[in-house]
Amino acid sequence: MKKILAFAGSNYSKSMNHQLVNYTASLIDDLEVNVLDIRKWDIPIYSIDMDPDQTPDLISKLIKQIGEYDGFIISSPEHNGGTPAFFKNILDWLSRRGKKVFADKPVLLMSTSPGGGGGATNRKFLEHTLPYQGANIAAAYGLPSFPQNMQDGKLNDEQLKELKAAIQQFTSALK
Ligand SMILES: Cc1cc2nc3c(=O)[nH]c(=O)nc-3n(C[C@H](O)[C@H](O)[C@H](O)COP(=O)(O)O)c2cc1C
Repeated sequence: MKKILAFAGSNYSKSMNHQLVNYTASLIDDLEVNVLDIRKWDIPIYSIDMDPDQTPDLISKLIKQIGEYDGFIISSPEHNGGTPAFFKNILDWLSRRGKKVFADKPVLLMSTSPGGGGGATNRKFLEHTLPYQGANIAAAYGLPSFPQNMQDGKLNDEQLKELKAAIQQFTSALK
């Protein structure tokens, strides 16, 4: 059975993106999906001064884990139109410790926010930049207006249909 690692790039205890990742994982029953909760990760801000030999343990462990999985579900919040510093820092660490860390494996890239844009500006940015780290963005899904569209832990029918289509596109890209 193919193994999927799923996580949200948020450090907010009530993260909407983390909730979306959990919900998405609950919709997949023919793959092993493991949700990684990185909300409490305390990782120093990357500096070139830390190259090459000061690597946070969590980053080393994440690189090892990524190597063991066949695909990834990643959901990123958006802060001021960009990637939140918390997540960008992790991506910068990964870029310095693993060349093409995602090794051309498929990624379902998601985003959500309380606003009508659903974090699309940053999702587009990540669609463009994550491939430099080896991510094959096989499918993308954005959920706007999280509090309206996700109620009692469930998506409305219209959004659920869109998310299922994205999951289908993602899983069919798994080798
Ligand atoms: C500093 C800051 C900047 C934000 N900028 C945006 C933004 O540009 N676009 C957006 O859709 N939401 C923005 N938001 C609202 C976030 O979408 C919201 O806080 C959401 O909870 C973040 O996702 P998370 O719950 O998974 O952490 C911002 C929030 C903060 C704290």
